[in-house]
Amino acid sequence: MTIEERFSERYKSGDTPWDIGQPDFNLIEVVTKHPVHSCKALEIGCGTGDNSIWLAQNNFQVTGTDTSDIAIRKAKEKSADANIKCDFILADFLRSKVEGTPFGFVFDRGCFHVFSSEDDRKKFAGNVAAHLEEDGLWLTIAGNADDHREGPGPPQRTAADIVLAVEPYFMILSLTSGHFGSNHPNPPRAWRCLMQKRRGRTDAAGSIANRPIHQT
Ligand SMILES: C[S@@+](CC[C@H](N)C(=O)[O-])C[C@H]1O[C@@H](n2cnc3c(N)ncnc32)[C@H](O)[C@@H]1O
Repeated sequence: MTIEERFSERYKSGDTPWDIGQPDFNLIEVVTKHPVHSCKALEIGCGTGDNSIWLAQNNFQVTGTDTSDIAIRKAKEKSADANIKCDFILADFLRSKVEGTPFGFVFDRGCFHVFSSEDDRKKFAGNVAAHLEEDGLWLTIAGNADDHREGPGPPQRTAADIVLAVEPYFMILSLTSGHFGSNHPNPPRAWRCLMQKRRGRTDAAGSIANRPIHQT
């Protein structure tokens, strides 16, 4: 089963523990304390849209993408009910370029971390860079391999997994160990990683320039 099919099944059966019905406090803290100024924002793997809607309520011009048609339909319904304008698009971020580039801010909660292959994580990071403007920011919230829990939970990534994938394209501004926003008393551990796109990391066509990171 592909990742897309797996998520599709989980949305169909309602097995979506990540869907907490509210924006994640990690997003709110970073946007308000860093701060991230309102701009064009892209949420990758937006699920049913609570984080995108929060960003739009805070003056960001938001595009949310996901591969699940159920998630995108729910996100559209929620934003219509809240009378908030967001563009929710059914798209596979690893395979297609999202319209509206360049974005100033990219957010994902639990999408980057789903890729178990290092190549896919590198591809994901390169695609994020290709969607961002110069100095643009990416915040990812990802499962943390230091979470030694029994039973099911989010994918677990090490700090090294994250750094290896993102460093060619991004300067890491902060990488902290905390937890996911959750409705449960014992929320899964999470990495919160805020990054800034390296200068000159994409060419005019939006593909990634093949330059070493550190030049002497
Ligand atoms: C763990 S869920 C998190 C959803 C949402 N961010 C939230 O916090 O509620 C991961 C989401 O990523 C989506 N996804 C997985 N692979 C994707 C891809 N290649 N492109 C876009 N979305 C993807 C899934 O359909 C799912 O909605």
